[in-house]
Amino acid sequence: MLDHKQVQDYIRTIPNFPHDGIMFRDVTTLFQDPRGFRLAVDQLLAPFVGQRIDKVAGLEARGFILGGAVAHQLSKGFVPIRKAGKLPARTIAQDYELEYGRATVEIHDDAFSPGETVLLVDDLLATGGTAEAGIKLIERLGAEVMGTAFVVDLPDLGGRARLEAMGMSVHALCS
Ligand code: PRP
Ligand code: ADE
Repeated sequence: MLDHKQVQDYIRTIPNFPHDGIMFRDVTTLFQDPRGFRLAVDQLLAPFVGQRIDKVAGLEARGFILGGAVAHQLSKGFVPIRKAGKLPARTIAQDYELEYGRATVEIHDDAFSPGETVLLVDDLLATGGTAEAGIKLIERLGAEVMGTAFVVDLPDLGGRARLEAMGMSVHALCS
């Protein structure tokens, strides 16, 4: 029988993780399914085929899995944007607020050359704080974010509106 499952059908919801009241959208069930993972990666990169993208950047941690696959498929380099203290060479840092807490992300300061064009990838857009911090890091290095791509958009949390207000294009596979 043909499998007509869509990307969202592979994602499970875990109530009250990591805190009471959070409905955690768990993409591990999407990643572990060969058809689901290919579907998600193919759909994430589709709008960017033929666009000028020099590198793909991914946000820790699940943005590494998706961004790495997207970069490979587009034959581009991959740049990790990591939580504070994880990158070994010289970094720049950006603080941000999350749906549940505060954090800092960092990028190596030689990750981009000025004028390079970047696709930013993550699994999920909630408040947009993480993505905004990533965009700021990329822009502080003189590169340009050509687009952002997410598997899940949680529109009630305002991330899409926040990024669009910055002039960013937001590509999401489900909400
Ligand atoms: C999740 C998700 C995004 C971010 C989205 O990561 O993978 O990166 O939250 O939230 P926001 O739009 O409100 O910023 P998390 O911070 O849980 O980190 P992890 O991937 O390292 O678990
Ligand atoms: N990151 C922020 N909010 C999230 C949620 N509801 N599910 C998964 N990851 C998240």
